[in-house]
Amino acid sequence: MSNFTLGDQMRKFKSVIVTGGAGFIGSNLIRYIFEKSGFEGNVINLDKLTYAGNPYNLSDIETAFGGKRYFFEKADICDMNAVKVIMEKHSVDAIIHLAAESHVDRSIHSPEEFIRTNVMGTFSLLECARNLWKDRTDVLFHHVSTDEVYGSLGDTGYFYEDTPYDPRSPYSSSKASSDHVVMSYFHTYHMPVTMSNCSNNYGPYHFPEKLIPLMISNMLEEKPLPVYGDGKNVRDWLYVEDHASGIWSVVTKGKIGEKYNIGGENEWENIKLVNVLCETVAEFSSKDKDYYKKLITYVKDRPGHDRRYAINCDKIKKELGWKQSVNFEEGLKKTVKWFLENKAWIENVKSGSYKDWVSKNYGNR
Ligand code: NAD
Ligand code: TYD
Repeated sequence: MSNFTLGDQMRKFKSVIVTGGAGFIGSNLIRYIFEKSGFEGNVINLDKLTYAGNPYNLSDIETAFGGKRYFFEKADICDMNAVKVIMEKHSVDAIIHLAAESHVDRSIHSPEEFIRTNVMGTFSLLECARNLWKDRTDVLFHHVSTDEVYGSLGDTGYFYEDTPYDPRSPYSSSKASSDHVVMSYFHTYHMPVTMSNCSNNYGPYHFPEKLIPLMISNMLEEKPLPVYGDGKNVRDWLYVEDHASGIWSVVTKGKIGEKYNIGGENEWENIKLVNVLCETVAEFSSKDKDYYKKLITYVKDRPGHDRRYAINCDKIKKELGWKQSVNFEEGLKKTVKWFLENKAWIENVKSGSYKDWVSKNYGNR
């Protein structure tokens, strides 16, 4: 078995697939890889382009590196034949797996697609990698997961890497299942795998169905700001580029067969966060904060709503030297500014009108 960990030296790959690279975190990760990581190889963005995926998120990367070091491949991770062809075509030696159905509320209404993509899709990728890579030790399968697999915390305590899994939503249970399947490939087949479990992300290109972008988008349209239940559920927020640097640290330096928690160490009650968002949006607009705060509307709670998430991320800090670089005030300002400057993006992802751009650049796939 390989221990493909080279002390302080970093693992190097030539051809990396990022699944789900057209989504929120995937597109930020690919931009990070090209602009900040120093990586010199090729990146293949393998994405099915569901409602949440949009290669336009990477139009700058397409312009700079398209056809040279950046390749977009439209495919479903559940389609083993397609994945095999893409892996062979690009001589892939690493997979960073983000493709997933990712929204808890959608998983409550339509769980099937979550089981299909998140569980069966992960299995399909692992099988393709196992068949092609065989016993190679100079390869890596990195699985991007969530802190939601650990369940729900009370007022105190944290999620550690060895916290027992206790998922409660169809989304988190599908991610938990995929985590177990990934680890089974390490134990059973000695596939070189790593995993990261991250807290809630926020930042540019965040689909306006999750809390932060939905609130910003509704404020811009002067629509009600729906806060679930008593608004006292707690989430730990991390700026998306810090998640990208965390993933890259694990991919290049993490111990094979191990998982790393990544988090913001930045807990907020939803209602407090929504109030701060109203204040931040007001700083950049002609309306004052009280105008936006009056839009806050308490609505029926989400079924099975996890009360509190909080990550302990000492392991990645101590072992790999990662740390957060963007504080919350700064991150929220950057995010609000980005959404204000990209109102057309919000409109387009809501209406799906990027299809024109996709067919112009990639044909009718
Ligand atoms: P997202 O919904 O914004 O993007 C998901 C991407 O996956 C989209 O581009 C979509 O087209 C693609 N996709 C979906 N089904 C596919 C399939 N069958 N085949 C190929 N591509 C498919 O999600 P995100 O918020 O960027 O999350 C990315 C990953 O990070 C997920 O695995 C998620 O569980 C994990 N994660 C997210 C957060 C968060 O706060 N958003 C936190 C921790 C972990
Ligand atoms: P979300 O962004 O959906 O992420 P997750 O459920 O994966 O943590 O939700 C973050 C928190 O915000 C969660 O406690 C649910 C709550 N929430 C609302 O109060 N109103 C909303 O409209 C949404 C989308 C979420």
